[in-house]
Amino acid sequence: MYRLLLLLPFLFMISCNEATDSSTTTTPPNEVLMSKGFGLIKNNCISCHSANPDVPQKVAPTLMEVKTAYLAKAKGEAAFEKLLTGFIKHPTENIQMPEAVNQYGVMPVMNYSEDQIAAIAHYIYHTPLEKPNWYAEQYSADVQKYSASNNEEMSPLERGKSIAMKTKGTLGKNLLNAIKTKGTEGAISFCSAEAYPLTDSVAISLNAQVKRVSDKNRNPKNKANADQLAYIEQAKLVLADGKDIKPAMKEIDGKIVCYYPIITNEMCLQCHGTVGQEVKADAYAKIQELYPEDQAVGYGVNELRGIWVVRMDAND
Ligand code: HEC
Ligand code: HEC
Repeated sequence: MYRLLLLLPFLFMISCNEATDSSTTTTPPNEVLMSKGFGLIKNNCISCHSANPDVPQKVAPTLMEVKTAYLAKAKGEAAFEKLLTGFIKHPTENIQMPEAVNQYGVMPVMNYSEDQIAAIAHYIYHTPLEKPNWYAEQYSADVQKYSASNNEEMSPLERGKSIAMKTKGTLGKNLLNAIKTKGTEGAISFCSAEAYPLTDSVAISLNAQVKRVSDKNRNPKNKANADQLAYIEQAKLVLADGKDIKPAMKEIDGKIVCYYPIITNEMCLQCHGTVGQEVKADAYAKIQELYPEDQAVGYGVNELRGIWVVRMDAND
């Protein structure tokens, strides 16, 4: 009898939670969030997390596999959003799909605000990705439906970030793929041959110029100029203070130019870490052969490797 009384409050709590859970699932999606979420996913996630379940060369789990794994651990939208936020903000500490990490390696860290992650979570949660016809039919309909509203709302700083993130997604996808199929050494040659054409192709399709520069550059073409160096120095101080680095926007020769930080993670260290430790002798020999003046080694995780410089062309 006593035991039953003690249990009562718990029973209530459980049923209350369930009630709120089922009400969130039935709440209709918020169209503003759906639009924002879809735009972010299309530009920043799909390059690696294919929306097409039959993609030939996978570099990451499909969007649907991620959703299924997360829903198995999180009941209700609030819990789903919390799990996703935890992972995106601190990927290495909040891995929910250890088998995916074994298969594909860790996901690069990306800087998204909580609002942006909430919109991404909202879209994934409310969209029936698991239905076989979602990609075949609904995806292109969503591109039409949401793309018009997205572009108009963006400030130059947001647009520049989306361009840098899109380039990063494309480069990152190809880099992960090269490491997987060719090993570190092979990937170095790949990077060296493809980094420029890839950034260029994304940039052209987005009507902008994108490049990566550094104070300790590997490719002599990626040397930061005085203005970029000043931003880098200041950004390093902010990072050392444990704060988030803010992007910068400038007007240079009548064009809008934005700077965004590039931070290292574990994955980078095989080519940018300490020589003889993370950077193996063979890999370093290859790097020196291609870049005799390389300065881009000796990094640890969460350090400023360089910056994205996005120059936006007018007329749009
Ligand atoms: C450059 C490629 C790349 C891009 C771009 C990318 N991801 Fe990933 N992501 C991966 C890889 C590889 C994994 C598998 C390893 C892992 O689980 O960490 C992964 C795993 C995940 C997981 C499961 C993580 C876990 O183990 O719990 C989530 C959630 C996720 N990504 C969300 C996103 C979202 C949202 C975006 C867009 C904002 C995005 N990813 C963009 C490569 C990428
Ligand atoms: C497989 C080896 C490899 C890995 C892994 C790698 N890089 Fe690089 N990185 C290179 C090579 C090679 C270049 C020179 C590319 C070129 O010629 O433009 C480069 C250039 C860069 C540049 C341009 C500035 C410069 O020094 O020339 C940045 C920024 C950069 N890498 C950041 C990163 C970050 C951040 C990561 C991890 C997310 C990473 N790299 C992972 C090999 C690698």
